[in-house]
Amino acid sequence: MNQYEIAIIGGDGIGPEVTHEAMRVADAAADIFGFGMRKTEYPYGSQHFIDTGEMLPDAAFEEIKQHAAIYLGAIGDPRLEAGKVEYGIIAKCRFDLDLYINLRPVKLLHESLCPLKGKGPADVDMLIVRENTEGAYTGMHGFAHKGQANEVSTQTMVYTRVGVERAVRYAFEAARARNKKKTVTLIDKANAVRAHDLWTRVFAEVATEYPDISTEHAYIDAACMWMIKNPEWFDVAVTPNLFGDIISDLGAMVQGGMGIAASGNIHPGRVSLFEPIHGSAPKYAGKGVASPVAAILASGMMFGYLGELEAEKAIETAVSNLLCSGRMKGVGTGMHPTSEVGDMVVAELKALTVNS
Ligand code: IPM
Ligand code: MG
Repeated sequence: MNQYEIAIIGGDGIGPEVTHEAMRVADAAADIFGFGMRKTEYPYGSQHFIDTGEMLPDAAFEEIKQHAAIYLGAIGDPRLEAGKVEYGIIAKCRFDLDLYINLRPVKLLHESLCPLKGKGPADVDMLIVRENTEGAYTGMHGFAHKGQANEVSTQTMVYTRVGVERAVRYAFEAARARNKKKTVTLIDKANAVRAHDLWTRVFAEVATEYPDISTEHAYIDAACMWMIKNPEWFDVAVTPNLFGDIISDLGAMVQGGMGIAASGNIHPGRVSLFEPIHGSAPKYAGKGVASPVAAILASGMMFGYLGELEAEKAIETAVSNLLCSGRMKGVGTGMHPTSEVGDMVVAELKALTVNS
């Protein structure tokens, strides 16, 4: 029996409660599909930092690295300076584990979830491949003459040929593996951010190795417009870090909201991190009203990454069945108690396997 070591960081706000439901579903899936998980929970996050002054200690990080995968609930707390825990935990994992792909599927499971008029599941099925270690997030920033009238603030977008190429290549491989429209769209802003010319050139070079995959290009502003007007236009999109961050929230809304969007921070073949795209939503924390669906789907992505494809598929099917049959009213906050959604997905998973 395969046994996977999973590090769990529930994190901030609604993070721990949605993680709890996601892990109940994950346990049920492991049971059904005959594999095991050894879970280690870590207390890191804003509250832990406030209580102890400890962010993500080196010794713990060394231990976390030894796992097959990391599952994260959510990070962020308005009581701390902006960016503190984001850079201390999530960016640290992304950078220090070199999780160079942020994979964000935008898939509409049921028409009722889509805010766009006349669009259904056939129109919304794309994969955003966000470069995850470079660009504006590299952290090279500074201030001069702070607080003075002549203050200067800079932050450098950093792109390396290696970094761009591995993201672009991943996107082409994903388009091939999906075997849908077999198209990769490069989303950049090379007309204004001339550093993106590196993306233009590398994309063209890599494309020559994939004659079976078509290429498209859109500037980020136009891509936002197309995602609303003609989401069916997209299959796989590859984009620099900051644009990927922004457009994946847009994508989340198109597929039904932050309550349903999941992601994987991936270094193929190495320990990778899975999380819902939504944040910690402090105002709903502890109320048991947040939808854990995004967190549940993130656990499915984790299983897919670990090679448990049947478990991934079953989790998605269970959620989809519940939404399509109307048993789950939606993924909005307060539509169902958090734990009820966990109960429903676990029951549906079991029913699915009995019927198959
Ligand atoms: C995301 C989040 C993070 C990001 C924040 C929490 C730093 O918005 O994963 O999309 O900007 O990458
Ligand atoms: Mg974001």
